[in-house]
Amino acid sequence: MADIVAGIATSHVPAIGAALDTGKSGTPYWKPLFAGYQPAKDYLAALKPDVVILVYNDHASAFSLELIPTFALGCAAEFPPADEGWGPRPVPIVKGHPELAWHIAQSLVLDEFDITIVNKMEVDHGLTVPLSLLFGQMDAWPCPVIPLAVNVVQYPPPTGHRCYMLGKALRRAVRSFDRPLKVAIFGTGGMSHQLQGPRAGLINRDFDTAFLDDLSRDTARLVAMPHIEYLREAGSEGIELVMWLIMRGALDDKVREIYRFYHVPASNTAVGHIILENGARR
Ligand code: DHB
Ligand code: FE
Repeated sequence: MADIVAGIATSHVPAIGAALDTGKSGTPYWKPLFAGYQPAKDYLAALKPDVVILVYNDHASAFSLELIPTFALGCAAEFPPADEGWGPRPVPIVKGHPELAWHIAQSLVLDEFDITIVNKMEVDHGLTVPLSLLFGQMDAWPCPVIPLAVNVVQYPPPTGHRCYMLGKALRRAVRSFDRPLKVAIFGTGGMSHQLQGPRAGLINRDFDTAFLDDLSRDTARLVAMPHIEYLREAGSEGIELVMWLIMRGALDDKVREIYRFYHVPASNTAVGHIILENGARR
């Protein structure tokens, strides 16, 4: 009945949200970046998903060191934008899909994937920047969004393999929902970046390109990649890329790449973006 039909990954750099919110998206620095997302906006406008599952990480906005869920599923009716220090972003409130979210929670837990259920949560740039990039600036988001927050901020984050298997469990959960919903899944974060310390500003184009390639060519390599390799090759915040493997796991074993975009720099980060569809290469 319901199914996950497409997967989209994108970086979620906060400066992108600030550029949009302060009317700077047409400046020479930002224009090429936003141009690279036009195909995704067209793709989603044609696909018209009924629901989006948005995999992201909270950056100490809703959670803190007091409470660190590894995987947290947003089951609320709405999720307001968080104040990250400059007031909440002037973007629409994110409307959830409690019925599907609770179904997913039940399916995951009975499938022995014990996630945290969240009934009240503000969402930060990790979630709102991808919505802005992929849907554009609008008065209301075009469909309900189910947030899935992953801890990649405080050691130990989940393994890439665990993330991939969670993606598979999400697919089973959605497919057992008794209503004909077209679901898209977004994986966010990355690509290579390090925000602090002696290697701040690290960008590894070769690593990022191979990661984009292997989402469709050699998923097994990515799924087996240990944390230390992300850290060494993609910088300390490059570990956000494990979230892309949840998106990847929720698709067929064989996928085709519809579109990709890679851009340096945005803030001090490499921006990566890819659209994948179920099924083998055409
Ligand atoms: C920055 C923050 C992020 O959470 C991220 O994923 C990339 C960049 C930043 O502060 O520039
Ligand atoms: Fe981030």
